[in-house]
Amino acid sequence: MSNYKIALIRGDGIGPEIVGEAVKVMDKVGQVYGHQFSYVDVLMGGCATDAVGKSYPDGTAELCKSCDAVLLGAVGGPRWGSDKPAQQRPETALLAIRKDLGLFTNLRPAAMRKGMEDASPLKRETAQQGFDIMMVRELTGGIYFGKRERYQTEDRGQEATDLMAYSEMEIERIGRKAFELARLRRHKVTSVDKANVLATSRLWREVMHRLAAEYPDVTYEDMLVDNCAMQIVRNPGQFDVVVTENMFGDILSDEASQVTGSIGLLPSASLGASDPGLYEPIHGSAPDIAGQNKANPMATILSVAMMFRYSFGLAAEAQAVEDAVDSVLQSGWHTADIAGDGDKLVGTVEMGRLICDAIR
Ligand code: IPM
Ligand code: MG
Repeated sequence: MSNYKIALIRGDGIGPEIVGEAVKVMDKVGQVYGHQFSYVDVLMGGCATDAVGKSYPDGTAELCKSCDAVLLGAVGGPRWGSDKPAQQRPETALLAIRKDLGLFTNLRPAAMRKGMEDASPLKRETAQQGFDIMMVRELTGGIYFGKRERYQTEDRGQEATDLMAYSEMEIERIGRKAFELARLRRHKVTSVDKANVLATSRLWREVMHRLAAEYPDVTYEDMLVDNCAMQIVRNPGQFDVVVTENMFGDILSDEASQVTGSIGLLPSASLGASDPGLYEPIHGSAPDIAGQNKANPMATILSVAMMFRYSFGLAAEAQAVEDAVDSVLQSGWHTADIAGDGDKLVGTVEMGRLICDAIR
């Protein structure tokens, strides 16, 4: 019997509803496999701005660090938009928690699930061939964390700059994660950069080549980011692990998730050198359907499976959750976001119950 303490950032919009179902799934896994999960609520996001005036209250990181893992529903919404001061915006909190917890590795798997082919915007035959990409995005460096400036020029009006910087240390540690992951999968790494233009990308490529020599059992290739964006829609089946810097990864992971046809099903993990890791669905807070029992809890529940696998080393438990989601999907139970003709439409709570019942 093991005990695990999990920080819950329920957040905004549909966040509280989907986290609620994920908690029921964890409790069910606990019963079946003999684990004890306990929970600590952590206030962060727009709801924190409303309650205490800032999206990232003092002590948030410390509270999370006192836990074994963090589960995040979703943060953000139109009420806390880009016209608001930085400390009130939910995005500020997201970037801050990644930095404070040292979460430099972001795993965003994007795979074609059986039965979802018709929902994919890909060509029918491409969708039917299937794909299974593990997108590895560097999460605490590059242009999202570089120095920003805005100033007045003499003759060109205002000017703004954002600095993109990467050190060998930052590139090597994310690269190593990618190669290690490839060893657990299909032994292929595609490193995405813009080395024909950017200095950061040339350094990136040099470091990746050094690592590739250390992993001779892994097939390695470089790919330019613009080409990669095309390849994801042309032939996504060619990819196994894709590793890239922060901004390219932000963009490409949205593209890869969309071509699965099931963005409501995609989980993610953000990991550092030590615990806690942070797990969250890749979709947002969907304020338009919040509080209506319509949201799909599957991406959050699959994020719990990633937590079991990557933070707790509970592979069988992770598999049980993933199998439960698959079996419910294949029985034709769908929430509104993925429901088609002839499907059995269910709400958030019913979907959570179906998945719990499928875990034995
Ligand atoms: C994501 C989001 C964030 C990011 C935003 C909200 C800061 O787009 O997690 O991909 O760009 O990292
Ligand atoms: Mg994004």
